[in-house]
Amino acid sequence: MCGIVGYVGMRDPIPVILDGLQHLEYRGYDSAGVAVVHPAGIVVRKRAGKVAELVAAVAGDQALAGSTTGMGHSRWATHGEPNDVNAHPHTDCGGSIAVVHNGIIENYAALKKRLQARGHLFRSATDTEVLAHLIEDFRKTAPDLLSAVSAALREVTGTYGLVVLETASPGVMVAARLGSPLIIGVGDGEQIVASDAAAIVAHTRQVIYLNDGEIAEIKADAIRTTTLQDVTITKEIEEVTFDLSQIERGGFAHFMLKEIHEQPETIRNGMRGRLRADEGSVKLGGLEHVQERLAKSRRIIFLGCGTSWHAGLVGEYILEQIAKIPVEVEYASEYRYRTPIVGPEDVVFAVSQSGETADTLAAMREAKRHGALVLGIVNVVGSTIARETDGGIYTHAGPEIGVASTKAFTSQLTAMSLMTIMLAKSRGLSAADARVLTTELAAIPEKVERVVAQADEIRRIAQVYKDAKNFLFLGRGANFPVALEGALKLKEISYIHAEGYPAAEMKHGPIALIDEHMPVVVVVPRDAIYEKVVSNIQEVRARKGRIIAIANEDDHEIGALAEHVIRVPRTYGFFGPIVNIIPLQLLAYYIAVARGTNVDQPRNLAKSVTVE
Ligand code: M6R
Repeated sequence: MCGIVGYVGMRDPIPVILDGLQHLEYRGYDSAGVAVVHPAGIVVRKRAGKVAELVAAVAGDQALAGSTTGMGHSRWATHGEPNDVNAHPHTDCGGSIAVVHNGIIENYAALKKRLQARGHLFRSATDTEVLAHLIEDFRKTAPDLLSAVSAALREVTGTYGLVVLETASPGVMVAARLGSPLIIGVGDGEQIVASDAAAIVAHTRQVIYLNDGEIAEIKADAIRTTTLQDVTITKEIEEVTFDLSQIERGGFAHFMLKEIHEQPETIRNGMRGRLRADEGSVKLGGLEHVQERLAKSRRIIFLGCGTSWHAGLVGEYILEQIAKIPVEVEYASEYRYRTPIVGPEDVVFAVSQSGETADTLAAMREAKRHGALVLGIVNVVGSTIARETDGGIYTHAGPEIGVASTKAFTSQLTAMSLMTIMLAKSRGLSAADARVLTTELAAIPEKVERVVAQADEIRRIAQVYKDAKNFLFLGRGANFPVALEGALKLKEISYIHAEGYPAAEMKHGPIALIDEHMPVVVVVPRDAIYEKVVSNIQEVRARKGRIIAIANEDDHEIGALAEHVIRVPRTYGFFGPIVNIIPLQLLAYYIAVARGTNVDQPRNLAKSVTVE
């Protein structure tokens, strides 16, 4: 989604801003722009397309030189098509106030009408431009920029993370947040504000997280934070822990491939210090203070979107079977609008890689409003969901840059598996059974390594199917969500239409699609329902469908039933998805590469969806 970088200090802001925008590219965007403050006016440059095009366009541009305050933006279009004019920054009538904005101004149409009636001249089709004109109006009487922006924002309905500059205040940035993240990097004689720490860590690790409803006046050597009603807020400086090397490709062709290969390590990191395999015990610091309420809860509700929702579905199988707690899994975007029945007896987990997904945030706030205990399973430390929940589990997968989520998924499953063992023990699981489970879980990273090592073989299979028009993914039990996730990975990055189904559900409809052109990926581990899935495979074969089986290393029958077999190590049933998803990630990746798509930044998609 949209990205913001602002700079005030002693340096030329343009290199800092462009570098920051490049570090935000993974979020997904379609145009970009920069602005710097000069006493004679604000200079703005904007381009549809990639940041590289903006970089080329501003190279050697003397009009941008000589300033020490500036900002940049990468836009993911909501209102108005992606073109030069609609790209941010947007300016007021006289070009002396400029705004970059993430989020949506919901009452922009009414505001625009009012401003036009007062003579304001609009140039773009965006909702953001109303902010520039609204601030222009208030600035006529406000004592300073911060007061003018506060007054304007009091009239706004919607969400925003924004930065405002004006010619009258060189050396000042005003930043405000409601529902869209903003972080201030505190440097030595300079400050960098950004929507994501990835744009900041090259310069400083000391950061201030703005909260909803807060506005900050940022100067090179001072930051003043207030509410929109001018109540002063004292902010703490926190430290960001991730390394810049973590957000570089490290020799891999794509971030997605790097992140797939990182999984043995990221899964280990998720267990480190938490899992004692020999003792059969699990310790989750972020849940200790709520362990009793969790163990006694009426049910657990997982809220999430996309891959995080799929992780919740796997979690449902694991928790219900092992910990015997009823679980519901909800699309966050649906949950909030259907007056859910939820209360203090329930525990709600917001599941999110980014911790910034607008739908998930809104849904968990709704559950909180009804008195539920709201916890998080979150990857990004310090993200909004992490800060607004009453505890939870950090997944410790490290920064995930590829838009298609891979390592975040297996880390979410790892966190859910750990939590399951912990809860099951507090609800009567024997020490001996707990030891079996912890031993199984501890063995998973090595099993994932064995699957990743088959990348070349999976690439060969991908070549065979790269021109397919459709794909079907089938699985049963906890591997049904794996089928959903495999289909999501393929459609996201290869643009091939793909659907995931419970294998037995196929005969109730999708079977009509099967002919000799339909590849059908079946996850068929040797578990209690192996024979049932084999019957489903026979149904596909009878209609000439082309089977790609994800089967166990010791399955000697499957070769006769499938055109291709990808082998996975045998894994205790409910933890199997952590291993079984790996070949599907690799298959999607290599098919996308063979089709020449932009794997890490697929069309129309954003890494973190911060609008509804
Ligand atoms: O950051 P989140 O986990 O909250 O994101 C949820 C979805 O937007 C995300 O999983 C999306 O579906 C991915 N592109 C899947 O690969």
